[in-house]
Amino acid sequence: MTAQQPVYEARGISKRYGNVIALDDVDFSVAAGEVVGLVGDNGAGKSTLVKALSGAHRPNSGELYLDGERVEWHSPQQALEAGIETLYQDSSLAPDLSVSANMFLGREQLVPGFWGKLGFLANKRMDEVASQELQNVGIAVPSSTRSISKLSGGQRQAVAIGRAVSWANKVIILDEPTNHLGARQSAEVLHVVKAARERGLAVIFISHTLPHVLEVTDRIVVLRLGKVSVEAPTSEFTPDTLVKAITGLSGAA
Ligand SMILES: Nc1ncnc2c1ncn2[C@@H]1O[C@H](COP(=O)(O)OP(=O)(O)O)[C@@H](O)[C@H]1O
Ligand SMILES: [Mg+2]
Repeated sequence: MTAQQPVYEARGISKRYGNVIALDDVDFSVAAGEVVGLVGDNGAGKSTLVKALSGAHRPNSGELYLDGERVEWHSPQQALEAGIETLYQDSSLAPDLSVSANMFLGREQLVPGFWGKLGFLANKRMDEVASQELQNVGIAVPSSTRSISKLSGGQRQAVAIGRAVSWANKVIILDEPTNHLGARQSAEVLHVVKAARERGLAVIFISHTLPHVLEVTDRIVVLRLGKVSVEAPTSEFTPDTLVKAITGLSGAA
């Protein structure tokens, strides 16, 4: 394995919904320490590709490779166990639980001996671990004991992302992570994306907010009508050529 080998790769992915061809022979890859932007108009196939990568559904054809090994997901849980975290647009935090309880929620089955490892920790210790994890990925939350319902929209999104980044060990897929956030909150989210890259994670960043895509990604893959229409290093795009690649109004970057 060389440094150039992708951590996660999809080859020839096709997915049909009845007569609709949502994805048509799509190749996609992401390397460790790389942020790849996945962009395209509504209906271009972004969510369908995310679902194939996250194990939420199976494509009609095509192959997935993780660290060069062929993998097949029969459930999202399998992808999670393999180190692939996905933050869907409407992430599901439990509003009545604390920040730290949310950080650990649903992980009991993922990590063998998880509760044992934490040693049936007092809540206090769990709060400390959660705070430390959030701090490690550059997120400042007032207190990890606070309930999610008491946080602002931006803070909730920060916790959801922090949770995904701290559990991911290979790949993190972020679907519209800055949607509905203000400028300052978006900047915090972009900061976390950069922290994830620095941790050596492979990051897939989906967004309609092109300035965010241009700021945070290393490479951009443009989907159009279920196919990859343009793929190039981010430095080769301008805001104008990126819009044109997405709308198909003009040629490549
Ligand atoms: N569950 C579904 N049933 C039928 N058609 C679907 C379904 N999900 C997506 N599609 C269709 O597949 C195409 C790609 O959709 P999607 O992957 O959601 O695009 P994007 O996320 O880029 O907006 C669209 O034509 C969409 O209408
Ligand atoms: Mg979508």
